[in-house]
Amino acid sequence: ELYNFRLIKPDTKVYGIIGKPVGHSKSPLLFNAAFKSVGLNAVYMHFLVDDVEKFFNTYSSPDFASGCSCTIPHKEAALKCMDEVDHIAKKIGAINNIVRRPDGKLIAFNTDYIGAITAIEDGLRALEGAKPAPGSPLSGKLFVVLGAGGAGKSLAYGASQKGARVVVANRTFERAKELANKVGGKSLPLCEVENFHPEEGMVLANTTSVGMKPNMDQTPIPKHALEHYCLVFDAIYTPKDTRLLREAKEAGAAIVYGKEMLIHQGFEQYKNFTGLPAPEELFRQLMEKHA
Ligand code: ATR
Repeated sequence: ELYNFRLIKPDTKVYGIIGKPVGHSKSPLLFNAAFKSVGLNAVYMHFLVDDVEKFFNTYSSPDFASGCSCTIPHKEAALKCMDEVDHIAKKIGAINNIVRRPDGKLIAFNTDYIGAITAIEDGLRALEGAKPAPGSPLSGKLFVVLGAGGAGKSLAYGASQKGARVVVANRTFERAKELANKVGGKSLPLCEVENFHPEEGMVLANTTSVGMKPNMDQTPIPKHALEHYCLVFDAIYTPKDTRLLREAKEAGAAIVYGKEMLIHQGFEQYKNFTGLPAPEELFRQLMEKHA
């Protein structure tokens, strides 16, 4: 069951997801199960919100909304309602995770970029074998981001924060240049990325919508170019196995599914909400079953 209203007491912490539409979100299912598994006195609900500013003004009492997740179309507009915003989230210009501190102040994060970067770091550590080097495995790596939209920004800022050398490739070259300048990286038109391989063992992250259902026969970069990458991540999660990831595997690269970004961003939200580590196995099982 989604919520058990009879369990809501004056001291129950109320969390939720604000968005429009929001009813389809599986987050309440995941978070309520997670809270229950450790006996937390908390609920997580759907909040259908039209005007995000009005929402935060109306529910300004520190007794309401201990935290919320934030989805389409409020990720940018909600930023202006916060008391404090994580500095990378501010640069990206989008938030998806809001926590109310005990003093009532609202502090916001972007767990999308943390989720993607953590999933990629896990993939790289697995490649390093039993004795991974200390620090981020992204440090010093050449990191090619395809796309310069919201997800492209998240990956480019996240990777550059970890010390990667970022290259942004985009169909509209102007957008690639703009983002590359912001993260101190290089830019390429998307069509030139297949001939770009100054070194071996690069990391590739696709954030374009090329290959997304129903265009499953498409891929943003030809197979022959994939040989130069040690790991390929695709932010697309429908389908799970994109043509890009299938061909990357055939070319010998490690692959990281888009779903891993979703899962890891959920772990991060749970940690921010509760201060506790996420029940990762439970999250994974529920995601497999429902998402
Ligand atoms: P998101 O928030 O998911 O990143 P977005 O902001 O709409 O979504 O960005 C979509 C990205 O996919 C952009 O980088 C876009 O390239 P343009 O900046 O040139 O529009 C890219 N994209 C979408 N369709 C594409 C296509 N058919 N070929 C190449 N790139 C495409």
